[in-house]
Amino acid sequence: MDIQSPLALLGGISPQQFMRRYWQKKPLLIRGAVPAMVPPIARAALLDLAAQEGVESRLIQRGAKDKIWTLRHGPFNRRALPPASRPGWTLLLQGVDLHHDGIHSLLRQFRFVPDARLDDLMISYASDQGGVGPHFDSYDVFLLQAAGRRRWSIGRQRDMRLQEGVPLKILEQFEPEESFVLEAGDMLYLPPRYAHDGVAEGGDCMTYSIGLRSPAKRHLGADLLARVAEAHAEELEHAAPLSSAHTHYRDPGQGAVDAPAAMPEALQAFAREAVALALREPDAIERALGESMTEPKANVWFDEGEPPDEPWQRLALDRRTRMLYDARHVYINGESFRAGGRDATLMRRLADRRELAAKELAGASDDALALLRDWCEAGWAHAD
Ligand code: SIN
Ligand code: CO
Repeated sequence: MDIQSPLALLGGISPQQFMRRYWQKKPLLIRGAVPAMVPPIARAALLDLAAQEGVESRLIQRGAKDKIWTLRHGPFNRRALPPASRPGWTLLLQGVDLHHDGIHSLLRQFRFVPDARLDDLMISYASDQGGVGPHFDSYDVFLLQAAGRRRWSIGRQRDMRLQEGVPLKILEQFEPEESFVLEAGDMLYLPPRYAHDGVAEGGDCMTYSIGLRSPAKRHLGADLLARVAEAHAEELEHAAPLSSAHTHYRDPGQGAVDAPAAMPEALQAFAREAVALALREPDAIERALGESMTEPKANVWFDEGEPPDEPWQRLALDRRTRMLYDARHVYINGESFRAGGRDATLMRRLADRRELAAKELAGASDDALALLRDWCEAGWAHAD
């Protein structure tokens, strides 16, 4: 993608300008972001998805009289959903990009944001007056109106208190500052924690939320520590038995104690050093991060396959595959591989473009080809 060229999707500014002026800073309303928008997935196909096991779906309704919010989790067969003519309900389908090629391609238009930050594309289907209530999210979102009309009210909310006793995150006192009606093809970008409330105006309202992911520091820290610990334990298992006496704790300076249960401070310092050593191992954290960020979602599974005999005309990553790289590794679906030289260039191209052409494949080393074959067999990539 040329990040300096104006993009209709961003209202005629370039991805570079968008990131500099709006990203994580302020909202942007883009009229006609997708001109003559035709939803890649029709209502009937959407409802079929809602009926599937392995597709995360939720139904949110607000009682006409009692105004009470209710939340149910899918899968839902068609009869389990309210009639389209009944106002006030919303069906949310998470991660539709994992299940549908057209939606996956749409999500790829947002790859001016690093893949490590892009999460998924959620579709909401609402009847007239349907919505999920005023709330804020902890990540950025692009709200693309795919069909019908929705009124968005937004505001820089200070009072972040949430209503109690409701199954959703609903702001106690929403104070909107602006409101606009989005028609099919219009898009609204919101930075994290910007309060918003979208209400369908008329039926058959479809909104696509291009969601970002931003790991919470504590969660990420805990996940990475667990991964580093596991890798460290595995290495220990294969390492030669400890030979040097100096690798064990020594305390020639320890005096006699009259409080024998007290933990020696020197042992605490030794323990701290031992952990720091594991974390200092070259690339320990980078590898854990790459593996963590490419871990497939819990509801993702791949169908194993047999690639055709080489030479291949083309190899493409499966739409569910997550692939990233850094200076020394490539990461794919939770695994890491060290890569250098020409192979690294090839793998990085695959990660960035998500496919390789015959010419590129012809230059691959035997090792790289063997790896690609493994990935095809695992269903992570497809060759033809
Ligand atoms: C919706 O599309 O109804 C909800 C999306 C959001 O508020 O993030
Ligand atoms: Co939201």
